[in-house]
Amino acid sequence: MAATAWTSTELADWMRPQLARVEAALEQWVGAGAPASLAEPMRYAVLDGGKRLRPLLVLAAARAAGSVGAPAWLDDAALRAACGVELIHAYSLVHDDMPCMDNDVLRRGKPTVHVRFGEAGALLAGDALQAQAFELIAPLDGTAVAVPAQVQARLVALLARGAGARGMAGGQAIDLASVGRRLGEAQLREMHRLKTGALLQASVEMGAACAGELSAVATDGLRAFGAAIGLAFQVVDDVLDVTADSATLGKTAGKDAAADKPTYVALLGLDGARAEADRLLAQALAALDASGLADTAALAALAHMVVARDR
Ligand code: IPE
Ligand code: IPE
Ligand code: MG
Ligand code: MG
Ligand code: MG
Repeated sequence: MAATAWTSTELADWMRPQLARVEAALEQWVGAGAPASLAEPMRYAVLDGGKRLRPLLVLAAARAAGSVGAPAWLDDAALRAACGVELIHAYSLVHDDMPCMDNDVLRRGKPTVHVRFGEAGALLAGDALQAQAFELIAPLDGTAVAVPAQVQARLVALLARGAGARGMAGGQAIDLASVGRRLGEAQLREMHRLKTGALLQASVEMGAACAGELSAVATDGLRAFGAAIGLAFQVVDDVLDVTADSATLGKTAGKDAAADKPTYVALLGLDGARAEADRLLAQALAALDASGLADTAALAALAHMVVARDR
């Protein structure tokens, strides 16, 4: 049985206030206290753009996990986790776009951070965003005291794993080493699982961690959901690079073939890549069912959105 998903109207009604909360928090937090020359590129990289999918996954997973008895700190922990993962994501984009990596000039419909602020500005903005992500989740000043220390520590650990050598950064290293090479499906899957899937999976696991202790079945189900949808996200990113235009994407289309990157489209063709995304969606929904959690309709609707998206 496939997990029941909200309709797109129900999803939109839930997303509107969640996105407003996330935007307001990011507006308040990003670059606060930084020297102006650093705050400016940090804020440019994060604010006014982005689909905020990772924060939405955190909040939807917290909702699903909290459905078995929401602790008092759930909302505070989830908002901090949502913003933290978005800062890691934004930093990964800033560095991904730099001339030493993908050398892109357009991101979220604007000139990339290094084009606007120079390479040193982009490098430092990325560094500082990465650190600030962890400061939000485990703040020194005690503003998050409502969140128990062990929950803060688990959120830090999950985000660090998703971002680091066994996650996004590791996947980016494989990506750079794979330019001009033909990867088999297993190697390509591993690259995508790490460079993009790991942070999306971490988003779901962090949302779940905000609710404190969960059953092993629920934890495993949400982890498998996050892994499947995380991989599906990058498969669709590969498809959109070929099928969408730069104005819709807010980034330069057609870059993967031009840069000779291994992608699902290069490996399986457009129809094959789309079929793989659909297969992963079905896998994600089955994992949600297996979690045994009651309130998974938001997560299921986000999963559908990931695969059906046009940007
Ligand atoms: C783009 O991510 C980079 C990848 C991991 C494929 P998104 O498509 O989520 O980018 P924004 O946040 O909406 O700009
Ligand atoms: C990016 O993959 C993954 C990251 C860790 C940022 P891509 O290089 O395909 O992302 P886009 O297409 O530039 O957004
Ligand atoms: Mg890249
Ligand atoms: Mg790129
Ligand atoms: Mg891409």
